[in-house]
Amino acid sequence: MYKDASSNGDLTVNIGLIGLGYIGSEVFKLIHEQHDYIMKKIGKDLKITVVAEKDLGSRKEFVKKYKGTRFTDNPYEAINDESIDIIVELIGGIDPAFEFITGALKKGKYVVTANKDLMARKGAKIFEEAEKNNTDILFEASVGGGIPIIGPLKSSLASNNISKIVGILNGTTNFILTKMKDNSLSFDEALKMAKHLGYAEANPASDIEGNDAANKLAILASIAFNSRVHIEDVYREGIGNISISDISYADELGYIIKLLAIGSDEGGKVNVRVHPALIPKKHILASIKDTYNAVYFYGNYVGEIMSFGRGAGDKPTASSVVGDIIAIARNYDRNNKRIIYGCTCFTDKQIVPFMETINKFYILIDVTDKTGVLAKIAQVFGKNNVSIQSMIQKQTDVKGTARLVFITHDTANKNLYSSIEELKKLDVIKEIINTIRVEEL
Ligand code: HSE
Repeated sequence: MYKDASSNGDLTVNIGLIGLGYIGSEVFKLIHEQHDYIMKKIGKDLKITVVAEKDLGSRKEFVKKYKGTRFTDNPYEAINDESIDIIVELIGGIDPAFEFITGALKKGKYVVTANKDLMARKGAKIFEEAEKNNTDILFEASVGGGIPIIGPLKSSLASNNISKIVGILNGTTNFILTKMKDNSLSFDEALKMAKHLGYAEANPASDIEGNDAANKLAILASIAFNSRVHIEDVYREGIGNISISDISYADELGYIIKLLAIGSDEGGKVNVRVHPALIPKKHILASIKDTYNAVYFYGNYVGEIMSFGRGAGDKPTASSVVGDIIAIARNYDRNNKRIIYGCTCFTDKQIVPFMETINKFYILIDVTDKTGVLAKIAQVFGKNNVSIQSMIQKQTDVKGTARLVFITHDTANKNLYSSIEELKKLDVIKEIINTIRVEEL
């Protein structure tokens, strides 16, 4: 405990909060409720001096309750206020958040944000501005809600070469897949439940199609591999095509289906992709259920490491936002500012083209149930360098139709795609129902 807090630089750290929504109001409350506890720990008085909210009319009760704080609908009252040390941006989206953040950095202020869309798209520009002004931006809450991932990557794990990240980074899709498996709900029923419980994004397509997880992966991969990964670099495939049948065949084969965000450093090139995958039921990631998130890393000194927790929600996200504020405030000295972590993208690695990515595949096909069908299919796979690891045959409700479930050995995505195109032309193929990647992890 600090005996004399004032000897450790400035005592009061003034905060300007932009956005008093779901997360913003929780950050406000946390700092209020935990104020004395935080002060005892870090020897600093965290003070939210200005709150900017464009829709103050709807927050009358809140404003009345915390009369000691200055509320405004103009963010520049906080950004231009000389006494403010840290701007906390919690409005989300690209514009005007980008202007507010760069405006604050230009003024030499520190910035804390939870904005994954912005950091995944404009991270490089924002860091450039921070460095120019000898300040920093911290964004722990942008990935994995309450789970500390970015801070540990930039500090405790910083000595490691990270070669692999595998994350379950979207709670909504993990909830949907869990309900489909454990409660035999259809995709639509599970999505409806997720919406009802308030888990899905305003536009659930962002969750379902893998865009939310892709933003988070672009941010994590940039840090883990020390090279800027742009959101466009991330291959994306959502869970809209996953059916209960896929989940039950996967189960029979010893797998569970998860939406994974995978990043790997492959001999100095970066491979980044978000897609559903069959993973072994015994792997630790298979146990991550409902809206929980988890990220698994491999570092050359630490070995395997995994973080698990609440990937969304007001309280967990506020916990991460305030953790960043504390990282800045702990040794804060207004006259002797320092970079906390800074940008760690010091190399420029190429991205592995998705078609070259190597995967095992699960393939589900309905075929005419007659002699010679398997031989024809095997010939197409063989010609395209796709080797079959196992196959099971299932009955269908349709007379004369058999269902085949294949698991392939590792092959390049381009080989799989070319064999699917050829298979479609065979008269014995009734329908290629699904292809899903298999990750042995
Ligand atoms: N919609 C996100 C999820 C939460 O389902 O994980 C915020 O990132």
